[in-house]
Amino acid sequence: MSLAPRRAVAALAAVLLAGSVAACGNSDTGAGGGGGDDKIVLGFSQVGAESGWRTANTNSIKEAAAEAGIDLKFDDAQQKQENQIKAIRNYIQQKVDVIAFSPVVESGWDTVLKEAKDAGIPVILTDRAVDSADKSLYKTFLGSDFVKEGRLSGEWLVENSKDATGDVNIVELQGTTGSAPANDRKKGFGEAIAADPKLKVIASQSGDFTRAGGKQVMEQFLKAHPKIDVLFAHNDDMGLGALEAITAAGKVPGKDITIITIDAVKDGMQALADGKFNFIAECSPLLGPQLMDLAKKVHAGEEVPPRIETEETTFTQEQAKTALPNRKY
Ligand code: AHR
Repeated sequence: MSLAPRRAVAALAAVLLAGSVAACGNSDTGAGGGGGDDKIVLGFSQVGAESGWRTANTNSIKEAAAEAGIDLKFDDAQQKQENQIKAIRNYIQQKVDVIAFSPVVESGWDTVLKEAKDAGIPVILTDRAVDSADKSLYKTFLGSDFVKEGRLSGEWLVENSKDATGDVNIVELQGTTGSAPANDRKKGFGEAIAADPKLKVIASQSGDFTRAGGKQVMEQFLKAHPKIDVLFAHNDDMGLGALEAITAAGKVPGKDITIITIDAVKDGMQALADGKFNFIAECSPLLGPQLMDLAKKVHAGEEVPPRIETEETTFTQEQAKTALPNRKY
């Protein structure tokens, strides 16, 4: 072959290669790394849209990605683990730069996490943890201390039941079965109330972190148990659903039944300020900016701490009145 045709072939090859790389980097296909604009491609698998907390978390992640100039691929798993596994496998196939996800339940992730590791794609856990023994399967876990949230809720109850005489009957609305927040909040609460033997959990069932679930399970609790003194709901939404059931049963929430919840989203804080809830342990959904920062670091191959805990507080009715006007979510 003469020199001229050889150059022509090389030029054609270069054009074809450039075309295929550009196609890989386009945000619809979601392929990473070598995209034309050099943006980091982050594949994120969200749990679902089950609660006000979740909506605020999704908004935080989308806004922070746009601000950080990160190309976000977002998938809503509708509270199903199989959908999350499918989304993660799609991200691996698309060769995204970083994968992040909030695991709906704690168990069953090792195989897909190993696939991501073998593909050389770093994984960040946000909000919820996995129970994998092999910590090398993910770079870091960014989120709340759910055991602490349960413990703070229980400690408030111990303190505020000091003057009660006789048994204090508690019903518990658990979050999604098998999820880290449901397991951990139950544990922390149980450990704290063990300090006072008159505090008794008489019923405990999952309301799946939804308002509808909270309402439905509270209706059953009210039918089955004539004396309920306290409701501990693992999130605001289930507590808000339960309010409807309590009111319909002719009881006054916040007075006849003391209500403790977790999250501190606006609607929950409003119920607290209105005297319908009695105490909320905060769980912050605003994880987006920290997640983007971590995505940039792990993509650059920088070391990151294996655990980053979210800063949180608690609210009484008076504190909710003060905080509500400036509440962001
Ligand atoms: O994982 C965080 C929990 O999930 C929030 O407390 C709850 O509202 C959400 O659905």
